[in-house]
Amino acid sequence: MDNPLSNASTESARTNHVASTATGSRFVRACLRRPVDRTPIWLLRQAGRYMPEYMAVRKHHSLLDICRTPEIAAEVTITAAERLGVDAAIIFADLLLPFTPMGLDFEFLAGEGPVVHSPIRTAEQIHALRTDRIDELSYVARSIEKVASHFSAPRADGDQLGIIGFCGAPFTLASYMIEGGSSRNYIETKKLMYSDTVAWPLLMEKLVTVLVGFAQQQVEAGADVIQIFDSWAGALSVTDYCQYCLAPTTELVRRVQALGVPVIYFGVDTASLLPTMRETGADVIGLDWRIPLDAGWKAIGEGCGVQGNLDPIALFAPDDVLKARVREILTAAAGRPGHIFNLGHGIVPGTPVENVIKVVEWVKEYGAQ
Ligand code: CP3
Repeated sequence: MDNPLSNASTESARTNHVASTATGSRFVRACLRRPVDRTPIWLLRQAGRYMPEYMAVRKHHSLLDICRTPEIAAEVTITAAERLGVDAAIIFADLLLPFTPMGLDFEFLAGEGPVVHSPIRTAEQIHALRTDRIDELSYVARSIEKVASHFSAPRADGDQLGIIGFCGAPFTLASYMIEGGSSRNYIETKKLMYSDTVAWPLLMEKLVTVLVGFAQQQVEAGADVIQIFDSWAGALSVTDYCQYCLAPTTELVRRVQALGVPVIYFGVDTASLLPTMRETGADVIGLDWRIPLDAGWKAIGEGCGVQGNLDPIALFAPDDVLKARVREILTAAAGRPGHIFNLGHGIVPGTPVENVIKVVEWVKEYGAQ
């Protein structure tokens, strides 16, 4: 199944990029399963509504304004990474930004989350989606350039902070396009997926085209790693994931790796999907908290890193419980190369910032090799 030639060229492109830019980053080294001095840590939604500094910016700007203004997006990204003392900064942006150049209008409504005004329900709408305006997303690349320039010098401990670009996976993005927003049962998405054997693959193909272009802009601007969010893949059976999503997701992973960066592939509620997610060829797979880290890593198998997997709600627990959960994850990882400490999903509003900082400090202390 694998094409050895394309794998070899991917491997050498990746090595070249990493050799030239980021061998000094313990986060990037861990993504490549190389030895590190201590377990690297960053946190999903590390810049978000739990943080007073973010809320102060949000008071004056909408979420989309922040995303589309490189000075502000970079400032929010940098402030969160520095306040927490983490080893990587994820660029402040959103999964749904590529919808606009594809011709699909959406907005974020307070309390409701994202709303797509004319959700996709027909083959004609899929045919009409544009893939030729990816340049309109270049504001994300401009934000990354600013963050990369801010973090260009090594930190006090000699480590280079990692810069993470990101995009959605085809299934998760299609679910927002088709449902028109967040969903519980994905009925419209699955109806289209099961019933239109021409339009569904076309939608997947168009998404992959746009996402590869978007990822390329981010890598050229200085992203060291790309994380692909397949947040809702856990809604799929293994059979449906294999039949409808594995091929386009694999295509996306391979083409992003060919840009010269490692790929982290993340989903929630994916315990039963892990061996299949591994088939995408991602360098690292994100684990949620429902599976013990060692069991998840075993299911994924050798030759792939893992990221995770503290329950974000454990950040509300008293110190002794929280500390025990952090230690449990580090013990399960057992210092094997390729573990990146993270949460199993994003930090929620109301999380005490001081607990987030404590977790970062404990991982630095207990995760030393
Ligand atoms: O530090 C960071 O991680 C922030 C950057 C970031 C945002 N969105 C900003 C944001 C990232 C990595 C995302 C990814 C994203 N966006 C995902 C995948 C991650 C996941 O949680 O699985 C998804 C599914 C989206 C789509 C999206 N954006 C939803 C469903 C919502 C509403 C959810 C809510 O909590 O209200 C958003 C809004 C959003 N994107 C917020 C932030 C900080 C919160 C809203 C705000 O500031 O007004």
